[in-house]
Amino acid sequence: MIILGIESSCDETSVAVLKDDIILANLISSQDFHINFGGVVPELSSRAHIQIITSLVKEALAKADCTLDDIDAIGATAGPGLIGALLVGYTFARGLAFAKKKKFVPVNHIEGHIFSGFLMEEKPQFPLLVLAVSGGHTLLLLAKSFTEIIKLGSTIDDAAGEAFDKVAKMIGLGYPGGPKIQLAAEKGDKQKIPFPIADLKDKYNFSFSGLKTSVLRYVQSTFGGPKDTPIPENHLNDIAASFQYAVVRALLIKCEFALKEYNISSMSLVGGVAANKELRNAFLQLGEKYKKKVVIPELEYCGDNAAMIAFRAQSLLNAGETFPLETDAFPNFSSKYFINPPLADSL
Ligand code: KG4
Ligand code: ZN
Repeated sequence: MIILGIESSCDETSVAVLKDDIILANLISSQDFHINFGGVVPELSSRAHIQIITSLVKEALAKADCTLDDIDAIGATAGPGLIGALLVGYTFARGLAFAKKKKFVPVNHIEGHIFSGFLMEEKPQFPLLVLAVSGGHTLLLLAKSFTEIIKLGSTIDDAAGEAFDKVAKMIGLGYPGGPKIQLAAEKGDKQKIPFPIADLKDKYNFSFSGLKTSVLRYVQSTFGGPKDTPIPENHLNDIAASFQYAVVRALLIKCEFALKEYNISSMSLVGGVAANKELRNAFLQLGEKYKKKVVIPELEYCGDNAAMIAFRAQSLLNAGETFPLETDAFPNFSSKYFINPPLADSL
């Protein structure tokens, strides 16, 4: 089966061609101009998707050495994401499917991330513990199959990536926050400032707003507030390292709870924040400690990409799911494959 995947939920336009397990093309066009605005401007994002989508589809097909006639199905992100941005890729893909009489699969963006480990040569195995960390989501999941995803916990406020972005802005590192904090943290001392980890009633949930506030208080009390910065470079590096360390610990504590409680075959770290080196290393070490197979996608497949959307479309078609073209799934914010946690011993 050959699938054309299209992703346009935020500031990346991406088109991929997937033939069974082989990624024939995965083109990603990042809208770097948002850097000038300190964050993604939705209207500009939609316009940029419109400008590039047709040529990117042509380019991806050429790279994959395919024509539209060779394609069996088209999968596109239907949500969650920026509504105008999503509309560009989704309506383009649906229109193309209609015109070319192809199967069309609306794909939930988070589900795309969740199974992105399957794009790697070494595949994860079910039951699979997934830590999904991006700019919009922080989720701990237990996937029993491609269509049964148990949601163990999620953030009750900011997503992990959002916390990286907000703290980076606060300490004057700018946008995009994640990579900038990682870079500064490499030169800092992560033990320097003991930033707190939220202690929540619900064992598997996450919270990052207290940590964010605590960085703000620290900056205010030490330097008189973000407005009165600049913070000296070595101190800035220590703040970045200590903050990053707190985020990594907060994420991994919950993974460890799940490893102790559930019968898990393998573990996967996915989403934009999975690009973070310190988090990748800590996740690998946790897997070693519990003797679990760990699959973390290569960097190209951590951030938003269409290969994961094509793979998700393929896994749903293989599971026998059908998506009548007349039934419009847009915007598809929720996932019908998410189920509530059962008792641990029933797994
Ligand atoms: O998955 P993604 O590309 O888009 C969403 O679906 O949200 O994730 C983007 C998020 C941003 O918050 C960005 O700061 C974060 O991933 N990120 C990182 C790193 N690279 C990207 N966070 C920490 N360390 C990184 N190296
Ligand atoms: Zn994403």
